[in-house]
Amino acid sequence: MSLSAQSIEDAKALALAAIASADSLEALKEAKLAHVGDKSPIARANQQLGTLTPDERANFGKIIGQAKNIVTAALEARTQILESERDSRVLVEERVDVSIPARRTPKGGLHPLTILTNEICDLFLGMGYRVAEGPELEAEWLNFDALNLPEDHPARTMQDTFFVEPLDSHLVLRTHTSPVQVRTMLEQEPPIYVICPGRTYRADELDATHTPVFSQVEGLVIDKGITMADLKGTLDHFARSIFGPEVKTRLRSSFFPFTEPSAEVDFYFNGRWIEWGGCGMVNPKVLVACGIDPDVYSGFAFGMGLERTLMVRHGITDMHDIVEGDQRFSQSFGSGVK
Ligand code: FA5
Ligand code: MG
Repeated sequence: MSLSAQSIEDAKALALAAIASADSLEALKEAKLAHVGDKSPIARANQQLGTLTPDERANFGKIIGQAKNIVTAALEARTQILESERDSRVLVEERVDVSIPARRTPKGGLHPLTILTNEICDLFLGMGYRVAEGPELEAEWLNFDALNLPEDHPARTMQDTFFVEPLDSHLVLRTHTSPVQVRTMLEQEPPIYVICPGRTYRADELDATHTPVFSQVEGLVIDKGITMADLKGTLDHFARSIFGPEVKTRLRSSFFPFTEPSAEVDFYFNGRWIEWGGCGMVNPKVLVACGIDPDVYSGFAFGMGLERTLMVRHGITDMHDIVEGDQRFSQSFGSGVK
């Protein structure tokens, strides 16, 4: 290309047209490369300056310089426009609506019965007891015979039992947590201090105060010199920590084949006596069946229903609420997670 004012003017006009028509930052980058880059007409004109006479060089240098300045200014202006267009597009496209309700992942929580069970275990762990557990499908011998309830004993019909087929398997769904007492005494030498929470089964109809699947908590202590005063003191402490410091308990004479003497334990709450569970001194016959010398050791045991404990403490009037699993009921007790 020979150097002339017209050719520089043409190169400038081409550059400005390309810049004006670049509709994106990428297109503008290409226009910049083509019209102000090292191989652009304006750059090449600049390179030709060295071949000119000093006068011509001064003249063309000025023309080329002005053309370059105009093109550079146009580039900058177009860059600013395209950048601000991109920024506002990003603001719209990547908009975050902080007013949209957060998506909550439900955390879940413990059932109120589990919360109560944990509370009771914590209380007894604090007194040096151990938590013991046993199977819900239990040997008939452990559920009844070892507890001084032989086959023909009338007390065996006090608890309506779910027997498991085949009948000669001699398995039952445990009717109480007392077989865990027997398991513990067979496995462990005295002194024994255990608390045994668990699910129990009886062929009772579901109504406001009964459920065929319910929960008990059993306590068992075997040591030297244990008396009924220890039982009463332990029940008092248990009742006060569950129902409040004002609560009183009383023992009412009763009968269980595995304790002698036996009692029903009641507590006084909101102006009336309420039956809480059974208790007594472990029958020496049970100690013998479990290989413990009744001349050396004595002990007490108690067993409470947890659904009824929960009902009394929280003013629940219908057992259905506890067993039906409606989350709104459970949620009112909190998650129970510490
Ligand atoms: C027993 O089950 C004895 N094993 C308790 C015991 C343990 C006595 C240790 C002595 C020494 P009872 O059958 O009374 O006792 O049941 C105890 C508690 O279980 C009752 O007071 C009641 O709170 C609860 N319970 C019994 N049947 C049901 C049921 N169908 N639904 C809900 N709770 C029940
Ligand atoms: Mg009873």
